Amino acid sequence: MIKIVILGAGNIAQHIYNVFQAAEMLNVVQVYNRSKKALSYFSDVPTTTSLKNLAEADIYIIAVADDAITSIANKLPFTDRLVAHTSGSVHMHELHKKNRRGVFYPLQTFTKGVHVDFSGIPICLESGEKADFKTLKSIADAIGSNSYKISSEQRRALHVSAVFVNNFSNHLYRIAHEICETNNVPFEILSPLIQETADKINTLTPYMAQTGPAKRGDQKTIDSHLEKLDKDIHKEIYTLLTQSIAKTYGR
Ligand SMILES: NC(=O)c1ccc[n+]([C@@H]2O[C@H](COP(=O)([O-])OP(=O)(O)OC[C@H]3O[C@@H](n4cnc5c(N)ncnc54)[C@H](OP(=O)(O)O)[C@@H]3O)[C@@H](O)[C@H]2O)c1
Repeated sequence: MIKIVILGAGNIAQHIYNVFQAAEMLNVVQVYNRSKKALSYFSDVPTTTSLKNLAEADIYIIAVADDAITSIANKLPFTDRLVAHTSGSVHMHELHKKNRRGVFYPLQTFTKGVHVDFSGIPICLESGEKADFKTLKSIADAIGSNSYKISSEQRRALHVSAVFVNNFSNHLYRIAHEICETNNVPFEILSPLIQETADKINTLTPYMAQTGPAKRGDQKTIDSHLEKLDKDIHKEIYTLLTQSIAKTYGR
């Protein structure tokens, strides 16, 4: 049985708490948060707002805002225990070296109250010591996730890639939604296209899957699209992405 203390009470803390408690091999023995309010979610486990009162555990998982990770790690009142964070962008060495350091980064988007199935989620693991990697991997295995050994630099590259595939593509949906609304057409007509675009990546590389006027070099169509767009920012995004696609395909 691996005893776990979770530090933080937000999105990630709540999701890992639920999935850890459901796993036979794992036991969340305590949840810490700086403020009391969010701790009410963790009703069947001891909680604390004081770092001085942290319980004994095999691993302390810091799941707080990126900018607060270092200061919490610095304030931990013990040494030589395994302390890991859950961030995609914070280097493992930003955790204080008085403890054994690790990373347990689930590469997925989490929202409070929206169920996520951990069995399909990749978890990026990193540790300073070999034995600690085993502990991190055992936790990932216990919740049925796929784990990957990923260094802090590789994780940074993955995180920026994730911004492109998730945050930026979602923002492009948002722009398309706005254009549809302005022109009085239902956005849902685009749903099968969105689905097919995502599905294609399972069988083709993004390079092979690309279609559209920028790849073909259809300048008349590109000009007509630019004319149709009302907002300057949308024209700029369209132009920049068109240039990037054209360059990729040697146009
Ligand atoms: N959400 C995702 O999709 C996702 C995915 C993968 C990894 N992560 C990583 O997981 C970590 C937590 O993200 P989250 O989405 O769970 O964040 P969140 O829902 O916004 O929760 C933030 C947590 O950090 C605490 N906190 C914020 N500022 C603090 C400070 N200055 N000092 C002490 N505690 C502070 C908050 O405490 P209060 O309740 O007192 O405000 C809360 O417990 C981050 O490192 C993030 O990069 C998130």
